[in-house]
Order: sequence, then C-alpha cells, then structure tokens
Amino acid sequence: MSQRVRALRGFNDILPDDAVWWRGVLDHASRVMDQYAYRPIHLPLMEATELFSRSVGETTDIVAKEMFTFLDREKTSMSLRPEGTAGCVRAGIDHGLLHNQQQRFWYAGPMFRHERPQAGRYRQFEQIGVEAFGMAQPEIDVEVIALSARLLRALGLQSGEGLQLELNTIGSSEARAAYRDKLVDYLRPFAAELDEDSQRRLDSNPLRIFDSKVPRTREIVAEAPAFADHLDGPSREHFEAVKDGLDALGIAYVLNPRLVRGLDYYGRTVFEWTTDRLGAQGTICAGGRYDALVSQLGGGEVPAVGFALGLERTILLLKALERDVRRDPKPQVYFCSLDGTGAVMSRLAESLRDAGLRVQCDGSGKLKAQLKRADQAGAAYAAILGGSEAQARQIQLKPLQADGEAQMLDWDQLITHLQDTLDRRPD
Ligand code: HAM
Repeated sequence: MSQRVRALRGFNDILPDDAVWWRGVLDHASRVMDQYAYRPIHLPLMEATELFSRSVGETTDIVAKEMFTFLDREKTSMSLRPEGTAGCVRAGIDHGLLHNQQQRFWYAGPMFRHERPQAGRYRQFEQIGVEAFGMAQPEIDVEVIALSARLLRALGLQSGEGLQLELNTIGSSEARAAYRDKLVDYLRPFAAELDEDSQRRLDSNPLRIFDSKVPRTREIVAEAPAFADHLDGPSREHFEAVKDGLDALGIAYVLNPRLVRGLDYYGRTVFEWTTDRLGAQGTICAGGRYDALVSQLGGGEVPAVGFALGLERTILLLKALERDVRRDPKPQVYFCSLDGTGAVMSRLAESLRDAGLRVQCDGSGKLKAQLKRADQAGAAYAAILGGSEAQARQIQLKPLQADGEAQMLDWDQLITHLQDTLDRRPD
C-alpha cells in the first residue's frame, strides 16, 4: 500500500463539526460590521515580501523568523501574508481609496506564520480584521474598540468573565525613539542577565523586551524607566480622549503601560483583548493606531486604526466558557424513497427547496436505515415515498422531533402543509 500524504504541521483541517462554529462567528461578525457600516474587502494571500518588511518591520519576529517566503519563477520574493493590515493599505493606495477619503473596511481570511504550533497557535490561522482610514480623531479609536467589544458581546463574551481589554499608548515615533535610548541605557548593564531573545532585541527592538515571559528579564524590566514620563503632549491628549470615550460608553479596560505589540507600524493607541483561559496564547484580538503606515508605503498622510481577532482562539474561548455560537441548521424535511421513486423524490425535493425549505434526500437501502439516518440528521420530518404513494401522487409525512401521527398528504398539499407547521427562517 502506498504511504499516506499527511497535512503540514500547523495547517489544520476545519471539519464540519468545527466549521459550524466558524460560520457562527463569521455570521455575527458580518452583522456587527453592518451596524458600524464597515464594508468588506478581499485581498490576496500573497504579496511582495518587501510589503511586510517595510510595514510590519524587518526586525520583528513576524518578518525575521515567521514568514513563508518564496522565490517565484521570475525570482521575485513573495510571502504568504502573516497579517492583513499591510495588504489592506497596499490595496488602498493602489486603487486610490485612501487619498482625502474616509474608509472603513473589514476582512476575514487566513494568515500564515511559521511559528511553533501549539494549542491556539498555528501556521495557518484565520483573522477577522477591521481597518479605518482617514480619521485622526480619538472617536475613531473608540469606535474601533467599541466595535470589537460589540462583536465579542454578540458572541457572548463579556469583559470581566475571563476576558479583559488592555489599553496603552505608545506615543509618537519621536517620543518612542527618545524612550528607546533611555531604555537601552538602563538595560545595557543587565545585558548578560537577559534571556537570549531579549539580548538580541536590545539592539534591534528593545521595546519588545517588555513582552518577555522569562522571570529574570521581567524582574529587570519591572524597574525600567516608565514610558509615561516620555509621552509627548499630543499623544497624551489623544489617549485621555480615547479613555474618556470608552468610559462614556461603559467599556471597561485595564491600563497596561507594558503593552507594546509585536508589529512596528503602531503609534499612539494600542489595545489587546486577553484571556486567562487559554494558557500562553491569551490574546484573542489586538490592534491599534498606525498613522504613519500609509505614507511609509508610498501613500499620503492618512491616519488609520484597526484590529484583528483570531478566529481559532476566539472559538477555543467560546468552547471553554460554554458559549455555543454554532450555526448548524438541520434539514427540515428528510426524504426517504423506496421502490424506484428516486426521480420523483428529486423533483419534489427541488420544489420544496424552491419554497425555501431545507431538504435532504436519501433513497438508499431499506426504509428502517433511511429513517435512522433521518433521525441522525436531526430532521423535523421524514417524507416517505414508496411505489404505491407515488402512484396515488401522495407522500407520507412523519414527524421526527415532535410527537404526532404520520399522515398521508397529496403532493400539492405538501408545501403549504409544511409551511404552516415549520418555522421558515433560513437558518
Ligand atoms: P496580531 O496581534 O499579530 O495583529 O494578530 C491578531 C490576532 O491574530 C492575535 O491576537 C491572535 O488572536 C491571532 N493570531 C496571531 N498569530 C496567530 C497564530 N499563529 N495562530 C493563531 N492565531 C494567531 C495583527 O495581525 C494586526 N494586523 C492587527 C491589526 C489590524 N492592527 C491594526 N489593524
């Protein structure tokens, strides 16, 4: 026997029992996006590698270690997208959607990062993201955060119940540069005591040292000079207004001065929705403001803010907290066909679907086996079609979920009878 080909590590099959959770989350998301008038955008899964090195940042873990990068046949370096913001900005610039305009976009789709797979961390994973362009005022940070809060609420996830919103400002790029120098001055004497990743970051990306989970490193950074003392005035005012806006909407948050984010394009507001229920992969949704990115990628001065929610982690949390958002509609009618009545069954089933009903057809094996499958499918009714029924242009309708007698109906009564008795909502 030949050897089986297996799936790649970190690349998951989402089988129907799980896919119905995905569909539930995406359905809620698309409703919430409509409520805020964010419009869908679909972007390529591959982009020029340079797009990510110039946006996410050359020295970030994502670009330095985690991208799936290829040379194509023309020897162009391209990468599977590790995130959606860079592509969204690229598309906005390419199509002239950002210049002197306001835009609100949302997307859902797979992202790719070559990380060490574990629960909640995969090499292909799905994000639902939003990006708002052309609006500098703090109300837009508040809107984007409120949208994330509403989306989580729609899924049954509330702040406080295993979930919290962490908030910080990382100020202007000048303030960060000045602070970076101070931080490096402070950390340098401890260099030998820092963990290996942090030693590397000391030169490339010292702010990320705050992300370290290594106890000694954490002890050292706990005593580091505070960024708040270096925050520039305009960023401070902006942040005050964001906090006031969230307070006014009753959105609870925890200030986390150590929150820095792992992508280089952020400035001012940053936020993360985190949970203690998923072990190490506790961030389910994250984002912030990135006012410099559009010009950095060759567009004009266009302020922007957005976030992305990780679908797999959100679903892990929903399951951990027993919040069921599955969208898994059962067939309303399950056709059992006997005595060579298959063609008639197909025709009747199509006419029921024309009337908006959900219908599944069987027709293989004995009636008992077909009825068993009808039960397993969770159908409301079995519609049984044998040779004598077909001759008389009739069909036997048997309730499966509720009590009640089977009854014989004429074909032309079937639809009105079902419509009268069934809930006809499309779900
Ligand atoms: P990010 O923090 O890199 O931000 O990712 C956002 C979310 O994607 C994470 O909070 C997590 O839920 C999920 N995620 C990330 N990596 C993995 C993985 N390997 N496996 C499973 N889930 C993962 C961004 O990507 C930014 N583009 C967000 C943004 C949009 N900022 C502004 N606009």
